[in-house]
Amino acid sequence: MLSGRRILLVVAGGIAAYKTLELIRRLRERGASVRALLTPAGAQFVTPLSLAALSGDKVYSELFDLNDEAEMGHIQLSRDADLVVVAPATADIMAKLATGRADDLASTALLATDKPVLMAPAMNVRMWEHPATRSNLETLKRRATRFVGPNQGDMACGEYGYGRMAEPAEILAAIEAQFHAAGRLTGRRALVTSGPTFEALDPVRFLGNRSSGRQGHAVAAALAAAGAETTLVTGPVALPDPPGVATLHVETAEEMLAACREALPVEIAVCAAAVADWRPVRTAEQKLKKGDGSQIPEIALQPNPDILASLSRSGPQRPRLVVGFAAETEKLVDHARAKLTAKGCDWILANDVSPASGTFGGDETTIHLVEAAGVEAWPRLRKQAVADRLVQRIAETLDASPTSKTLSEGVAE
Ligand code: C5P
Repeated sequence: MLSGRRILLVVAGGIAAYKTLELIRRLRERGASVRALLTPAGAQFVTPLSLAALSGDKVYSELFDLNDEAEMGHIQLSRDADLVVVAPATADIMAKLATGRADDLASTALLATDKPVLMAPAMNVRMWEHPATRSNLETLKRRATRFVGPNQGDMACGEYGYGRMAEPAEILAAIEAQFHAAGRLTGRRALVTSGPTFEALDPVRFLGNRSSGRQGHAVAAALAAAGAETTLVTGPVALPDPPGVATLHVETAEEMLAACREALPVEIAVCAAAVADWRPVRTAEQKLKKGDGSQIPEIALQPNPDILASLSRSGPQRPRLVVGFAAETEKLVDHARAKLTAKGCDWILANDVSPASGTFGGDETTIHLVEAAGVEAWPRLRKQAVADRLVQRIAETLDASPTSKTLSEGVAE
């Protein structure tokens, strides 16, 4: 429920604005109050009258409307809300906020607000994929603007791809997650691993993998957004450090383990890193020479420490809740259960990466949360949504369990 929550809804120009009317209806059904701010372009797609009728409130649209300013200044408008939602969010409004422009009421309110902002982008696929939009998106994410969608599909302009605004139900879920998570983990400490590890063969070569770190970074950001004091230990990735997260950069599995141990004690540990299973027995001090090509070096390997297993068995310092990930192509739940036992963690988030699932290279994933007590199947979600849902589950579980015990009895040494 969203009883008593105040939402400032910025409706920018896009055919998807009609879906926003449905969103307002659903928000009000759940007890939220909605105040709409309509851009001039948005007014080409929905009328102020329909927004006013559905929201039950005046609709704001002009920056220098003297009546509006006398009643409620644009600064107050942006502060008198618990959350600002932009739906549809056009490429233009994203660009304005990313660059700090304030030349109309919507961009001024967005720049002036001290409240969280959630955007539901909607635009042509080429505009969404344009480097300018990508860069604005990264800038906004770095500053903690949240996003829901866009989805893939047929577009009003006749093209196909990413750019369709998320459905009202998805936007509603993102809004609920935002309120649900806010502050629920305040006072708790969390540790997250993310990215690949690089194991050096010599000063220039290494063994590594293609992990992007997106899932682990999203979990760290979501934990911090929920109020947890969060440490992220990451291998080499091309992502910015998540806002509000103490981020430690490491290269090797051994460095990752050492940094994790330093971060203890924590209550929550989430291991999302794709740690290299092996490392070279020897790292050459000088670059290995190719020579005339007749001598191909044999590389002897040794196993790396298992960070998840190590945190799960860290004795009195064991976090209350230890979560791992597993990528499986078959017998998803059976393999995840086996991993749960082998590693001694509390939950495994099992990821279906079979070719049929379309997970690899895609933006969405299907998770089963496997714990000793049972299995929970989650719907197909984006990595950001997986992170939000995981954090919600963590908060519920920690709220419900006694403080002194770890969650899996008998696992701690
Ligand atoms: O054994 P596997 O690599 O499939 O297990 C995956 C899970 O274990 C992930 O949560 C990963 O972060 C964690 N892991 C780890 N240290 C390793 C290997 C895996 O923390 N050396």
